[in-house]
Amino acid sequence: MAKVRVRYTDYFAQTIQRMREDGLLLVTQGGDGKPNVMTIGWGTMGSIWSRPVFIVLVRPSRHTYSRLEQASDFTVNVPPRDLAAAASYCGTVSGRDHDKFQEMHLTPIPSREVRPPILKECVVHYECRTLHRNDVVPETLAQAVREEAYPGGDFHRIYFGEIVAAYADEDAAQRLPK
Ligand SMILES: Cc1cc2nc3c(=O)[nH]c(=O)nc-3n(C[C@H](O)[C@H](O)[C@H](O)COP(=O)(O)O)c2cc1C
Repeated sequence: MAKVRVRYTDYFAQTIQRMREDGLLLVTQGGDGKPNVMTIGWGTMGSIWSRPVFIVLVRPSRHTYSRLEQASDFTVNVPPRDLAAAASYCGTVSGRDHDKFQEMHLTPIPSREVRPPILKECVVHYECRTLHRNDVVPETLAQAVREEAYPGGDFHRIYFGEIVAAYADEDAAQRLPK
């Protein structure tokens, strides 16, 4: 299936919907050149600094965090519903002691503009270069959110990635929620 260039807004609704259902797959690559994949349920896309931006939130305890601190790029991949089990697995075990690509039969293939690969089996892809990062500040966070999301601390770091390429399978619209 050919993957064709799209506007970053073309699959906005479907991307958010899939993020809320099973999660999206965030692929990073550290200084050692090894890629890793983890599931994200929190994030968004928009226009900031006159640029298209994908925002992801990653807790310091994740293996992905150390990769993002070593590199300035990442890819966000939208899994079709038949990859629900893979999304769940990639959101449960760590790349520190698992090769999630092999275990979940996810095929990393070269990206067009950044170093971390995309995932062949996913249907929409966003390649991103980090423009900015900052931390959730407990003192300025609503108390209800702090209690709900951070009972053990581990406050997210927020990564703002410029979307430098966006593309999708030709039949993406049929394979994603309406
Ligand atoms: C549906 C789902 C959504 C998740 N969303 C996030 C997220 O947005 N940020 C985060 O830091 N962890 C999130 N997680 C947890 C990580 O995916 C999980 O801890 C993962 O095993 C980390 O992998 P790593 O250690 O290889 O980086 C989510 C898990 C699931 C199942």
